[in-house]
Amino acid sequence: MEQGLQTKAVHTSHPFNPTTSVSPPIFQTTTFSAENAEHFYEMATEPRHTEFYTRYGNPNHQQVEATVAALENGESALVTSSGIGAIFAAVMSQLQSGDHVVAQRNHYAATTVLFRDVLPRFNIDCTFVDNTNSDDFVAAIRPNTKLLYTETPTNPLMQLTDLSVIVAMAKQHHLLTMVDNTFATPINQRPLELGCDVVLHSATKYIGGHHDVTAGLIVGSKTLVEQIWRFALVSGSVLSPFDSWLLLRGLRTLGLRVERHNQNALALARFLETHPKIERVYYPGLESHPQHELAKAQMHGFTGMLGVDVKGGYAGAEKMIASLKLGIRAASLGGFETLVVHPAAMWSLQLTPEQQRATGISESLVRISVGLEDTPDMLADFAQALDQV
Ligand SMILES: Cc1ncc(COP(=O)(O)O)c(C=O)c1O
Repeated sequence: MEQGLQTKAVHTSHPFNPTTSVSPPIFQTTTFSAENAEHFYEMATEPRHTEFYTRYGNPNHQQVEATVAALENGESALVTSSGIGAIFAAVMSQLQSGDHVVAQRNHYAATTVLFRDVLPRFNIDCTFVDNTNSDDFVAAIRPNTKLLYTETPTNPLMQLTDLSVIVAMAKQHHLLTMVDNTFATPINQRPLELGCDVVLHSATKYIGGHHDVTAGLIVGSKTLVEQIWRFALVSGSVLSPFDSWLLLRGLRTLGLRVERHNQNALALARFLETHPKIERVYYPGLESHPQHELAKAQMHGFTGMLGVDVKGGYAGAEKMIASLKLGIRAASLGGFETLVVHPAAMWSLQLTPEQQRATGISESLVRISVGLEDTPDMLADFAQALDQV
């Protein structure tokens, strides 16, 4: 019988702890010694050796990688020092000058910057499509297209990409597929099981879960992950052993946390949907979400993330955020406490007001990362904050 996800989260790393300690030691070392010349040769030349030099690998990395590979149902994983480090290494390792990428109009802002501003400098073109319309992906494919890059649900509008359709399209045209699975987590969505090639995470979010580690993860076949690892060796996105240890500690409760995040977010979405001060709620778990049927088919839960348009435009959104007592105004998401951001205020560095409007981000939009607070307390906090609007 296949183990459940929470059992995998707790037990997968044990064989990669070479000691008898129940909590693994932190291998706080940059390098490992060899017994003799032959041993050193073997350490230096074996791909992904976990005891040679920490930029190449480390037992604390291996414990995280084995656990996340098991959760995503992938063959292999690679941990990096940030989510964008994982995205950069995965994308750049697979592309070369003259290639073309199809990506979405809505992505995490730094991902958009990578495709829009950085890749063209290396003669790699990118077409941005509406991810809610699978036909747009097909229409954008060119003879030199190499990669279909997706993120679902999207940050911050909670739009979905139909991964089964993307996979079918990629197989037909011999393209690679990558999915940023940060918002969903492997508890709510496992793209490799649908046939996608590479899963990416900002592990800074739900996987770490405690707002204390910046990290990224890449999951896929052994061959692909090894190719990405070779690129990561020169791009240098290396997670420290201590941060890997913290990530493993966070992972052990991922299933429990995500279950509560899902429950709290659905409760809040339902509450806000009928609130007179709220214009619109973006949450795939609501029957009113235009892709609710796809969400039910593709996801196992609807995440702890939602967006709302507050009545009163920019000022209304600001007033609600400023009036929250439990919800904190802070970037990032996926941790134990409720965090709230105003994208129109936060992303002006990466996106001009016109670009924000073009991607559907209105001035009244507030992104909520629902935390692990007791549901009645969290609902009461939003109720009193909206009374002030
Ligand atoms: C969906 C998504 N992908 C990637 C990233 C980048 O992750 P990091 O900040 O860990 O580099 C973020 C950060 O917010 C994100 O929300």
